[in-house]
Amino acid sequence: MRRLEGKLAVVTGAANGIGRASALRFASEGADLAIMDLEQVGLEAVAEEARKGGARVFTRAGDCTQEDFLADAFKAIYTEFGFVDILMNNVGQSARERASEFYQSSSDVWRFVIDVTLFSTLTASRQVVPSMREAGRGKIVNVASNAGMAGEIGISEYAAAKMGVIGFTRSLARELAPFRVNVNALCPGVTKTRVIDRISEEFLEKIRASIPLGYFAEPEDIGAVAAFLASDDARYMTGQSVVVDGGRWMV
Ligand SMILES: NC(=O)c1ccc[n+]([C@@H]2O[C@H](COP(=O)([O-])OP(=O)(O)OC[C@H]3O[C@@H](n4cnc5c(N)ncnc54)[C@H](O)[C@@H]3O)[C@@H](O)[C@H]2O)c1
Repeated sequence: MRRLEGKLAVVTGAANGIGRASALRFASEGADLAIMDLEQVGLEAVAEEARKGGARVFTRAGDCTQEDFLADAFKAIYTEFGFVDILMNNVGQSARERASEFYQSSSDVWRFVIDVTLFSTLTASRQVVPSMREAGRGKIVNVASNAGMAGEIGISEYAAAKMGVIGFTRSLARELAPFRVNVNALCPGVTKTRVIDRISEEFLEKIRASIPLGYFAEPEDIGAVAAFLASDDARYMTGQSVVVDGGRWMV
């Protein structure tokens, strides 16, 4: 399938995991890429792989929670490509090694998680919304989480930030619907990225037992749904939270 031929897709946090798999899927469907990440080396490796398939790729290493970094990066992207057809807001994370139950948590951790998960999504979106609105086209895919739906012990600030991403998605979808810009959230369940290396086998086993399909997602399983949401196959969907978690959370 070459559903994204001639499109420019921006993916934040594209050096690893879900962002990497999604960027490569977009490129395999014909998109050119503008990818950002804290990790320059990983970013270049993804760019090299995408270029082999014929994609034009722009890379910029930096911190997507920083407004100045994003403003500079998007300025360069607009100069080089003229228009951003697809924005995938993938940067986001839990407190990971600093995660705790809420009664032991601290505000510096909340601030970090909300910044990296929600603020980065708002800030990058702010860079593309005016031009998408003006052009009357565009796709925004915000990576949320099934944790935003179901909640999870030990990651309350992350679940709050991801539910924030879902609320933002719904509101922006309403604002942009008259301009034929689609805004959707993608809510992965546990996905085999480096993130799960940090989770104990015992806890992972407990989660696995609660997944009807009985296994964890590969990053490519999430990238496939991201490509669908980024394409015109999903043109009649907006404001939705698409859960990709093996059936763990059913609406
Ligand atoms: N892996 C899972 O089980 C899972 C489940 C649900 C949702 N998610 C969500 O999927 C998204 C990707 O997660 P992942 O598992 O692929 O993580 P990952 O750690 O494998 O990849 C995240 C990438 O983002 C980059 N990054 C982090 N902070 C950044 C910043 N401030 N600026 C620029 N780049 C930054 C990292 O360097 C890394 O390359 C996140 O929003 C996460 O919350 C993951």
